[in-house]
Amino acid sequence: MFKKFIVANWKMHKTIKEALLFLEQFIPLVKDVDDREIGIAPTFLCIESVGKAIKNTNIKLCAQNAFYKNEGAYTGEISPSMLKDCGVEYVIIGHSERRKYFFESDEIINKKIRACIKEEMKVIFCIGETLEERQNNKTFDILKSQIIMGLKDIDMPDFINIAYEPVWAIGTGVVATESQIKEAHIFIKEQIKNLYGDSADKIRVLYGGSVTPENIKSIMTTENVDGVLVGGASLDALKFSKIVKYEKSI
Ligand code: 13P
Repeated sequence: MFKKFIVANWKMHKTIKEALLFLEQFIPLVKDVDDREIGIAPTFLCIESVGKAIKNTNIKLCAQNAFYKNEGAYTGEISPSMLKDCGVEYVIIGHSERRKYFFESDEIINKKIRACIKEEMKVIFCIGETLEERQNNKTFDILKSQIIMGLKDIDMPDFINIAYEPVWAIGTGVVATESQIKEAHIFIKEQIKNLYGDSADKIRVLYGGSVTPENIKSIMTTENVDGVLVGGASLDALKFSKIVKYEKSI
């Protein structure tokens, strides 16, 4: 059985100095945690410094994105092999902010997932419906097509984590209800079972969207939730440590 996975997605926050200050506070707060995995996805600019600071700790280095080629004339991009070289173990792919602001299609996301797996990094593949899609009863159609297209021709379930992040719950303070999370996660697990059979049991399904120290316990104890992907509340060391040690949170 896998460990639960709690990941900070810092998005476009923190200078190198701020990232190192966070870690000075955070590392001692979570040093005894060994029954779950902890990940931090800083900006690319911080990745080397954060990687050095968390070396030999129980925190895994994650990246927020990667391009789908390892080198070439792609101004402004960062490749999977470069991330691997910096010690990255997990790459977030297909975040809704990348889909929305950088026009990433399911086809591009599929290429990125393959490119990361080729470099033997694991992915945290994000899926989720918009508010409009939910209101039009399209949630399950969207999740299904994102899964089928994103994971097309990928037969390495050991390298895949999925994050269910309903777009309407991201950064809004509106957290999905336990029953919304539960039914989405059950649906996602059914879909991956169709693709991978019993090997789908190796794929963790995380929840993301307005996770806080106040609501973490009820989210983590919801059936079929194997972890969380945390934005805003991961920027503060004390708050994020409370999320990691959720049994003790209010
Ligand atoms: P918030 O926790 O700020 O809602 O962000 C969630 C998210 O997008 C994590 O990837």
